[in-house]
Amino acid sequence: IRQEVNDQLSRPLQDLRISIMDRCNFRCSYCMPAEIFGPDHVFMSEEELLSFDEIIRSAEQFAALGVKKIRLTGGEPLLRKDVPELVASLRTIEGIEDVALTTNAVLLTKQAKSLYDAGLERVNVSLDALDPEVFQTMSGRKTKPDAVLHGIDAATDAGLGVKVNMVVKKGVNDGEVIPMARYCKQKGITLRFIEFMDVGQTNGWEFSQVVSKKELYEQVSQIALLEPVERDYFGEVASRYRYVGSDVEVGFISSVTETFCGSCTRARLSADGKLFTCLFSESGFDLRALLREGVTDSQIRDWIRAVWEKREDRYSELRTEETAKNRNKIEMSYIGG
Ligand code: GTP
Ligand code: 5AD
Ligand code: SF4
Ligand code: SF4
Repeated sequence: IRQEVNDQLSRPLQDLRISIMDRCNFRCSYCMPAEIFGPDHVFMSEEELLSFDEIIRSAEQFAALGVKKIRLTGGEPLLRKDVPELVASLRTIEGIEDVALTTNAVLLTKQAKSLYDAGLERVNVSLDALDPEVFQTMSGRKTKPDAVLHGIDAATDAGLGVKVNMVVKKGVNDGEVIPMARYCKQKGITLRFIEFMDVGQTNGWEFSQVVSKKELYEQVSQIALLEPVERDYFGEVASRYRYVGSDVEVGFISSVTETFCGSCTRARLSADGKLFTCLFSESGFDLRALLREGVTDSQIRDWIRAVWEKREDRYSELRTEETAKNRNKIEMSYIGG
């Protein structure tokens, strides 16, 4: 039996984003800037990471409390070994309707098929530019955008649904908005433009670097007229549109200029097992300690319920230049976006 749980703002717990790896093979300036995540940066050790058994056990408890959708994130989740095995187990949990993965796609070329065979249905791929130089500036590594494009093709060929996420930074990759939109439209892939957010403490966010949904919408409309698409479910983060005269969609994730905290049903689990109730939280709740203390499943559920029932986060609605700079926010690669 599933028991739903609501927070202080009557938002049900419906989605769980699980970071399974804090490392990444990219150094995106807006997420893990290379100056800060350098060769000496200390990542989590094997013992610190939740094991697959711990992840599965946690997910079962979340599902019993109403979670329907699980997304694996990172860092780069595919840097973890045996992700298909994890996917296959998560797929069998009662109540879980959707298991998805957010990845930079470089490792998809090799793994797409086994992920699909394990029951994964779709992936969201981060890609911020087609131009090699702009791509390298955004991703902080020498990898070429072709590596990502091959990963996307491998995913499509394997039968996975693919959406592309593009974070837009003013003066850096805003010239890629139209080329990216054209490329994805021609491939029939949904592209979602993401407003640059002040996650973590290291990405040097300034409001002046945000390209707003309104500006993005106007640019994309030059390719073809857009018509709105009905929301799929309560709590969807992207506002969706369709190019008139086609069935290709484009979306905007406007966490800065049009916030969506009112319908935020997402819990986040870091790779070392801390539960966060907001992407902009300053601290998490130590689920791993509980799991390793040897408590019962029902004690875990009571604990999760208590955390969720106290939740009143709505950071994006409260954001100011001041909070963007002076809040001790957790890093995105740690909490998984
Ligand atoms: P779908 O299920 O395909 O709609 O996935 P998603 O958009 O929920 O997940 P994805 O990992 O692709 O995230 C896309 C962007 O939305 C990323 O930049 C996330 O950081 C951002 N995002 C997702 N959830 C939240 C949220 O609760 N708050 C904020 N502010 N941003 C979010
Ligand atoms: N602002 C907006 N989106 C971000 N992402 C990572 N950091 C930021 C940020 N500062 C995105 C990635 C990926 C998703 C999980 O989060 O591009 O697509
Ligand atoms: Fe890695 Fe994704 Fe962060 Fe880029 S945004 S550094 S690909 S985790
Ligand atoms: Fe949810 Fe926090 Fe994002 Fe608002 S800012 S939508 S509460 S994760």
